[in-house]
Amino acid sequence: MSTDRNKIPDELIKVIKTLLNLIVLLVFALLLLPVLFYNSDSINKFFFAAPPSEKTTSADPAVVSAGAVPVSLYWKAADLNEINDAKKLEQISYGKDLIAHTAKYLGPNGSVLHISNGMNCQNCHLDAGTKVFGNNYGSVASMYPIFRARSGVVEDINKRVNDCVERSLNGKALDTAGNEMQAIKAYIEYVGSNVEKGKKAAGSGFKDLAFMDRACDTEKGSAVYKTKCMSCHQANGEGLLTAGASEFTYPPLWGKHSYNDGAGLYRITNFAKYVKYNMPFGVTHDNVQLSDEEAWDVAAFVNSQMHPHKNTPKDWPDISKKPVDHPFGPYADKFSEHQHKYGPYKPIAAEQKKREETAKQKETASAKK
Ligand code: HEC
Ligand code: HEC
Repeated sequence: MSTDRNKIPDELIKVIKTLLNLIVLLVFALLLLPVLFYNSDSINKFFFAAPPSEKTTSADPAVVSAGAVPVSLYWKAADLNEINDAKKLEQISYGKDLIAHTAKYLGPNGSVLHISNGMNCQNCHLDAGTKVFGNNYGSVASMYPIFRARSGVVEDINKRVNDCVERSLNGKALDTAGNEMQAIKAYIEYVGSNVEKGKKAAGSGFKDLAFMDRACDTEKGSAVYKTKCMSCHQANGEGLLTAGASEFTYPPLWGKHSYNDGAGLYRITNFAKYVKYNMPFGVTHDNVQLSDEEAWDVAAFVNSQMHPHKNTPKDWPDISKKPVDHPFGPYADKFSEHQHKYGPYKPIAAEQKKREETAKQKETASAKK
């Protein structure tokens, strides 16, 4: 008897339930939006309120300022386990091994060639170039080929890798058509294949470090070295090569087996950023041990010690583009080589900024004529 009247509310309830479900889904989707679009700068700033980081002046694409990005949002290398093609996997794995254990293949006792100083790429590109702010390769596949002011030309990945071979490994360039370069390139391209073309991966390259007001102090740096570095990198700075081993247990920081004076790490800003967020070995960018001053001073100390010399007459064809800490003149300003190398950097950076602004104004003025 109750039949007809009861049927209608039953259906109504169903409809209302479906509607409620839909609303819940919609709210969820809206909440998820910012997470999905975390790459977008504005949303990032809005939700994660990145503090304005004091930018150091650098002409290098590898230097990215990331602000306060939640850990889960930093770039993670594409997973080698997801490669199905056996041949491709073999080549990319070889590339990874060449980066992690370069000396085994290309060092003074290398099994393939003898073209480098015995260091591994991984000594400076931690975890085979995948560690957050450990000078990783996150932005290489997405950003190269790219114009670099150091060479004044557009560089592809081969050229950039050989730059590190000739400077950081103080060696002889690899044949770009050879198996080794092809494997290294395939690996670097693969790990960064999950980054959109033209975009930089969060946490790639180095994390910024604010300039000090004073110059870096090599004596203070020497004290930092003794207490915080020497136990591994040794009193003479030449690292530790275990007898019979093909690679360094602790790589050299100076001396004849170290990077040469044309290398990126020979610039004190690069060294300080690397060390602040990665040394003593084991620290991470969000759990550091060195103060900013310790990082700057120890960088100055290490780079005041002997490094092999490389002639680089073609570097910085436009001298006005030299980074503030480039240790060799001539410069577009009146600051000494000593101040460029050791700082204080702030006055140099300020003048560089002014110069760039004047140049821009001139450009727009002449465009109007
Ligand atoms: C516990 C041992 C240990 C301590 C202490 C340590 N390092 Fe290292 N360091 C290493 C190891 C190991 C590597 C190479 C990492 C790799 O290949 O994965 C390295 C790499 C480096 C590199 C890059 C490669 C090179 O040789 O140029 C620099 C620069 C460096 N360390 C500087 C420092 C400085 C400066 C300190 C002191 C503040 C320091 N390290 C303290 C173990 C250490
Ligand atoms: C002594 C330290 C050191 C070693 C060893 C080293 N590199 Fe580098 N590499 C750097 C520094 C520092 C930079 C970035 C600064 C610069 O551009 O000057 C860099 C940059 C790069 C870049 C460009 C990254 C970017 O985001 O633009 C690539 C690619 C690269 N290295 C590959 C290699 C390979 C491959 C090896 C081994 C064959 C190697 N590096 C060995 C220090 C090193």
